[in-house]
Amino acid sequence: MNKTFAVPRGTSDILPDAIPLWEALESKARKICKSYGYREIRTPIYEDINLFKRSLGATSDVVHKQLLEMVSSKEEEGYALRPEGTASIVRSYLENSFDKKEPLSKFFYIGPMFRGERPQKGRLRQFHQIGVEAIGTDGASPFLDAEILTLVMHLLQEFHVQGPKLKINSLGSKEDKERISLWLRKEFTKHKNELCEDCQRRYEHNVFRVLDCKNEKCRKIVDSFVQDLPLSDISRGYFEAVQKALKEAGINFEIAPHLVRGLDYYTHTVFEITAEGLGSQDAVGAGGRYAGLLDDLGGNEKTEYGAIGFALGMERILLASGKAQEGPQTIDAFVIETQAEYQFRSFQLLSDLRKNGISATTNFSGGSMKSLMNQANKANARFALIIGDQEFKDETVSVKNMSTSQQETVALSGIIEIMKDKLK
Ligand code: HAM
Repeated sequence: MNKTFAVPRGTSDILPDAIPLWEALESKARKICKSYGYREIRTPIYEDINLFKRSLGATSDVVHKQLLEMVSSKEEEGYALRPEGTASIVRSYLENSFDKKEPLSKFFYIGPMFRGERPQKGRLRQFHQIGVEAIGTDGASPFLDAEILTLVMHLLQEFHVQGPKLKINSLGSKEDKERISLWLRKEFTKHKNELCEDCQRRYEHNVFRVLDCKNEKCRKIVDSFVQDLPLSDISRGYFEAVQKALKEAGINFEIAPHLVRGLDYYTHTVFEITAEGLGSQDAVGAGGRYAGLLDDLGGNEKTEYGAIGFALGMERILLASGKAQEGPQTIDAFVIETQAEYQFRSFQLLSDLRKNGISATTNFSGGSMKSLMNQANKANARFALIIGDQEFKDETVSVKNMSTSQQETVALSGIIEIMKDKLK
């Protein structure tokens, strides 16, 4: 027997019955993002691998363990599938000189991302994100933080995500981060041997990550001395301004002093939104500020950039949005012919319907009237258009309303107008 194939581990097919849910998410996201002045951008799904290494941090889990490199027989080496969107958007922003065109560029994107994770519920190797990035010389206002957070909560509300909870923190400026990192390392030195294996590595390479370790022992150590990150006055003032703007916008949030995020590029505001019903992978979205990334990726040294964004995991949104809100795909007409020799006529009818904007299909199958009606039902057709013996002879067609079962026979020449009228 020939080998059969299965979908790769950690990926899945999105089958036709689920497509209306995805389309609804995407169209709501487009509409809402546009209403806040964000414009769609589409970048390639793979990039120079060094773009990710330089932006996400060589020691971050995403780069260290999860980059899916593209291996090719020829010169196409040095690429990786994108694990997230921010690095690509910053690359494109700089490459296309958006900084010379406008003081603030507002982008959104929707598409697949790839991480070589150990798959589990809500954690996949190919998943999809709706992301938003605001970048520019005018990008350093606390009101932009508030706008971004208002937008993310607005999206989650429209998606009917159950029990969304927004947690925010500030990591301070680049200088704050360096200073805090030294302080943390000093404090953790006393407990180094008690930290879990992962945190021993984090201690060496990215000590901030110890703060959000889920291991109970590590948590206890963290709780014993980190109530708040010791930010500079300027950074603290900025964070307070963000909180004030959020309160004014009526956004509920919780301050999470141990929230640090897994990607290295963040400074100042970071955030995460969790939702109910997701189990251990309960973050539906996350984001933060990342001005330093513009410098790291070759931005103009004399320009002071501000940048902030977020990404929502679409699979997790669907898991957290309770019952399906969208019905299955329907079709206006299902064309049925009772004899094979009537197929030329039914094929002509299908073309005429489609040319006139009426969606129509058939199974090209023939068979008993009962089984053909079953097929029309399965296709979620609103009307069945039947060409039987009598109809073929008289050049007519019978039109059956699939929900009321009412049926009438009409002249084939007038069918388009009649259908347009019925579908109004
Ligand atoms: P992230 O936290 O790595 O951030 O991912 C954002 C969201 O994508 C997560 O909260 C989760 O819902 C979803 N997600 C991540 N990994 C997986 C996975 N393996 N399977 C299923 N869903 C997943 C970023 O990607 C940043 N680029 C966000 C950002 C934008 N920061 C600034 N701008």
